[in-house]
Amino acid sequence: MSKISVIGAGNVGASCAEYIGMKNMASEVVLLDIKENFAEGKAMDLMQTAALNGFETRIIGSTNDYTKTANSDVVVITSGIPRKPGMTREELIGINAGIVKSVMENCLSHSPEAIFVIVSNPMDTMTYLAKSTSGLPKNRIIGMGGALDSARFRYFLSMALNAPAKEIEGMVIGGHGDTTMIPLTRFASYKGVPVSEFLSADQLADIKAQTMVGGATLTKMLGTSAWYAPGAAVADLVHSIVCDQKKMMPCCVSLEGEYGQNDICIGVPVVLGKNGWEKIVELDLNDGEKAEFAKSAEAVRNMNSAL
Ligand code: NAI
Ligand code: 2OP
Repeated sequence: MSKISVIGAGNVGASCAEYIGMKNMASEVVLLDIKENFAEGKAMDLMQTAALNGFETRIIGSTNDYTKTANSDVVVITSGIPRKPGMTREELIGINAGIVKSVMENCLSHSPEAIFVIVSNPMDTMTYLAKSTSGLPKNRIIGMGGALDSARFRYFLSMALNAPAKEIEGMVIGGHGDTTMIPLTRFASYKGVPVSEFLSADQLADIKAQTMVGGATLTKMLGTSAWYAPGAAVADLVHSIVCDQKKMMPCCVSLEGEYGQNDICIGVPVVLGKNGWEKIVELDLNDGEKAEFAKSAEAVRNMNSAL
């Protein structure tokens, strides 16, 4: 059984630890935060659900003691701050880049073989930073964004179809941003039947638009960004790695010519297994989708230049 460390015991980190525990996919989860006793408190609260929810995973907390994370198979990085009113994107990048870089160094010194899952925003840029500064093989750095955006896409489709979300397939590729993500309506299906058989072009355009602002809509409603679906998306991704499930899902990974791009980390469908991301799946995009992807990559590249 595997050991997983989750850095940042805030909303997303704690939710992710909870779902990892409930799926019994790991023997140990270490939650680490810089706030004194915060991760320990979250871990204790979560462990007190074990008797009720019936899981055996041991969740422990740590205040910045990286020795506790030693020999992790997977490290999830959720530490960072969300954007606050009046703050420029560059300022956010500056703060979170410093956090992600130092967290990566600390984790790597104790878990040199770990696979890293980057969640902190702006996620595509943080994944690029992690890839370019760590020197790790590309398959061991995975940004989580598309798994969440695809779950939101399937939710909006399920509402329109009045059908269970798990009967609906759909992927969102491109950057993890309101204007950069690309919900692939042409590839979405309900039990294998293209959704265009059930929904009009206008309905699909509306679902695409709702998906793209899915995170922003929740941030407005909650006063901070969402955590249940982000935590569940990370757990689903980590599950495929630690149990070598070979699930296909869109993840932010380093491209070397795939989808016509180089020197960028951006969301594309990949197969996830015990080696991290093991294969990029190149979809046969039409001209419109190719143009959307190129535009998304340009926006992600602009964001990266703020590094
Ligand atoms: P939060 O504020 O609830 O939690 C962040 C935690 O990180 C805090 O507890 C803080 O003390 C901790 N932290 C800060 N610096 C640290 C350091 N150097 N070492 C260890 N811990 C540190 O925020 P939340 O809602 O959990 O979001 C976390 C990040 O994830 C944000 O950047 C957010 O924008 C991003 N996010 C990304 C998503 C995605 O799909 N990629 C989805 C949702 C959130
Ligand atoms: C989300 O999509 C803000 O990345 C965060 O909920």
